[in-house]
Amino acid sequence: MHKAGQLAATILDKITPHVFVGQSTAEIDRIITEMVEAAGATSATIGYRGYQHASCISVNHVVCHGIPSAKTLKAGDILNIDVTVIVDGWFGDTSRMYVAGDIPRKAERLVQVTYDALMLGIEAVRPGNTFGDIGHAIQTYVESQRMSVVRDFCGHGLGRVFHAPPNVLHYGRPGAGPRLEEGMFFTIEPMVNLGRPETKVLADDWTAVTRDKSLSAQFEHSIGVTATGFEIFTLSPAGRFHPTWGG
Ligand code: MF3
Ligand code: CO
Ligand code: CO
Repeated sequence: MHKAGQLAATILDKITPHVFVGQSTAEIDRIITEMVEAAGATSATIGYRGYQHASCISVNHVVCHGIPSAKTLKAGDILNIDVTVIVDGWFGDTSRMYVAGDIPRKAERLVQVTYDALMLGIEAVRPGNTFGDIGHAIQTYVESQRMSVVRDFCGHGLGRVFHAPPNVLHYGRPGAGPRLEEGMFFTIEPMVNLGRPETKVLADDWTAVTRDKSLSAQFEHSIGVTATGFEIFTLSPAGRFHPTWGG
């Protein structure tokens, strides 16, 4: 899990200089594909339920599962890049936000709230707490900022498989859901909208967008439950997990 998580995070670090105004998301994905191959790893998403790319790239009002395309980035676009790799049979799944050009004020607030929501969810991870405690921490914070949590997609168990039980909901009640136990591995990957939480999937059967066309953001870490808390497998080695950090 360490190796897989660190490779996925390193790829997201190294893709940073390739995100700029005028760049196509297909080119970003091509570079990611090359990086996965150069590391001797396998993309978990190529061939997954018919998906054909090494990343999902979700721009502006795309909530998740954006398909890389020839369309180019415009100044002020915010985007999530999500990469999952397999190393020695283990899965590392992480995503983070990027910006083309300068980040607009409202987008910056959304990105910050989404990042803080992920970290508050992670801080609720310890043996004895429940999955509901994670969702509750995320939901109460996001709604206190007058933004909304997407209900239609969730985090998931992972390890030697991509998507395992349980569903990791980003909303919930304290004490609800399964209990957290040392040795569990799963993702937390809240999607936060500036407007309403409802989504719809486009005719390509993948791209999920906000129904009200409002901006959406997401961050994802793969984590493990330790004896006393949590360990994040997908921390950024370059300290670039957040778009305003690092060089
Ligand atoms: N990486 C995504 C997740 O966080 C799943 C992408 S599946 C794909 O679970 F097929 F769309 F790539
Ligand atoms: Co995931
Ligand atoms: Co992912």
